[in-house]
Amino acid sequence: MLLVAVLLEVIWTQAADGGQHWTYEGPHGQDDWPASYPECGGNAQSPIDIRTDDVIFDPKLPALQPRGYEQPGTEPLDLHNNGHTVQLSLPPSLYLEGFPRRYVTAQLHLHWGQKGSPGGSEHQINSKATAAELHIVHYDSDTYPTLSEAADKPLGLAVLGILIEVGETKNSAYEHILSHLHEIRHKDQKTVVPPFNLSELLPPQMGQFFRYNGSLTTPPCYQSVLWTVFNQRVQISRDQLDTLQETLFSEEPSRLLVQNYRAPQPLHQRMVLASFSQESTTEYTTGEKLGLGVGILVGCLCLLLAVYFIARKIRKKRLGNQKSVVFTSARATTEA
Ligand SMILES: *[C@@H]1O[C@H](CO)[C@@H](O)[C@H](O)[C@H]1NC(C)=O
Repeated sequence: MLLVAVLLEVIWTQAADGGQHWTYEGPHGQDDWPASYPECGGNAQSPIDIRTDDVIFDPKLPALQPRGYEQPGTEPLDLHNNGHTVQLSLPPSLYLEGFPRRYVTAQLHLHWGQKGSPGGSEHQINSKATAAELHIVHYDSDTYPTLSEAADKPLGLAVLGILIEVGETKNSAYEHILSHLHEIRHKDQKTVVPPFNLSELLPPQMGQFFRYNGSLTTPPCYQSVLWTVFNQRVQISRDQLDTLQETLFSEEPSRLLVQNYRAPQPLHQRMVLASFSQESTTEYTTGEKLGLGVGILVGCLCLLLAVYFIARKIRKKRLGNQKSVVFTSARATTEA
């Protein structure tokens, strides 16, 4: 009886997972996903490394307007550790404007790295990953009744990708999620979160984004996603990142849930559109600004020093000439 129950449990868990156990590293790691999930080996996969030199500025891309994000109802929202990520369920009353169809929200989740290692985001911009990435998953509710109906259809899903980096201050919007992680440390644990203003999870400048056709970044990797990746990053504090990297456990109860991000996939023939033109928006990070500042300062100092020494040399030479003139004329007088 017990054996049957255990077997049923195993079969059920695998079925719920989409058929086959998968991880990011190891024997069922991302390189082996295509063996069990053929679409993971397709030619329109996500994430990608966005090369800003190769994107196409499309001034006709409509602005993106999240609707209902400020007040996602009055019901508490489910927060779930599914062994691969932390996921917050969202009601279909939230939707995106700026697409030919209405895309309503279903859930959001995060991807991150591990303490002491750089990276953690799935998308990269010019080969630069950030510490983490938020995905807000929407489906085309004009065409499909549910998320699962839409999930494997072309353009069935629209996902917002928000790159997260470490900044100076605590991000109170992200704290609505992060402060509950300790309640769901183990796989399949759930808790609830009071509704909060979800628009604060988004970067303040939503006008700058990249758009491309891609896929789910986890098995079964359906190539059904209209991706929007924001150019501007959001910031969480170092402590908040530590919480994300050190609280949850994966399907193996003794293993921390870390490094749950997929490597960038080949772009192949795809286009990446940009809602903004690059020339006007050369953005520098704080480090680069500091570097630039120090560089300019050192440059000025060197120039000043050079001018000073040249001026001194010229003066010395002049004085020397005068002295030698005086000296020779003096000698001339005694000799005379
Ligand atoms: C995505 O695919 C659709 C349908 O094939 C196409 O109309 C659209 O232009 C594509 N978008 C991008 C950004 O390539």
